[in-house]
Amino acid sequence: MHPTPLNVLALSGSLRQGSLNGRLLEAAAALAPEGMALQLCDGLRALPHFDEDLERETHGGPEPVRQLRAQVTAADALLLATPEYNQSFPGVLKNGLDWLSRPGPEEVLVGKPVALLGATPGRWGTRLAQAGLRQVLTATEALVLPAPAVFVPEAERLFDGSGRLQDTRTQEALRALLHALARWTRSVTAESSAAPGTRPSAARLPPAEAGSSDGDAGRPGAPPGVHARARTS
Ligand code: FNR
Repeated sequence: MHPTPLNVLALSGSLRQGSLNGRLLEAAAALAPEGMALQLCDGLRALPHFDEDLERETHGGPEPVRQLRAQVTAADALLLATPEYNQSFPGVLKNGLDWLSRPGPEEVLVGKPVALLGATPGRWGTRLAQAGLRQVLTATEALVLPAPAVFVPEAERLFDGSGRLQDTRTQEALRALLHALARWTRSVTAESSAAPGTRPSAARLPPAEAGSSDGDAGRPGAPPGVHARARTS
């Protein structure tokens, strides 16, 4: 019997045309495993700056916020691609997460499975951006996939002139991430349906993906390369 298909909503923290992170998500959509539909969402673009007065006056947020909230609610999981700006993740992504983190008690990020990835032309693959993003998502009670996380340094050279991902190691890292997200989503969703009314926990890790165990990636001095949390170089 085939499991129920998973709907994954993919958001990029970059709004620009030709964004490396947007291209990475397009590549992920093309590599989604059987049983997963990955939808790219541009919903961060239309959001106003978070403002508690606006939130109150509009009873939870204006239309673009409501639309994004509904899309997140409908999704089984999120895939967030982040650039690194000044050693952290961009304000547009933080703004979106602040809107989505409220209002209680029906916060849409609580218990939502989330996987992270990020691309940069620089050498360190958005490590600091992803660390910051992970911290903020923990505050929202989203369930962030512990591993792998995909760090893509020197990303400009990995795409062809049409913006298509050509690098096979990065393609493999994306496949591993999406398989792990599918397992993670099914695992934490089963946990919450087994105990209705409780918030799922991130205590149980999915089984390790072959070839994606952590090595010394992230250790100071470890060379850059595409990392699926683990170094694949
Ligand atoms: C950057 N960039 C950058 N890169 C990085 O690896 N570490 C950093 O701290 C920063 N800081 C930074 C600040 C600001 C304001 C900008 C605009 C850019 C470079 C960044 O990684 C590069 O522009 C990427 O191409 C942005 O991602 P997208 O738009 O290609 O997805």
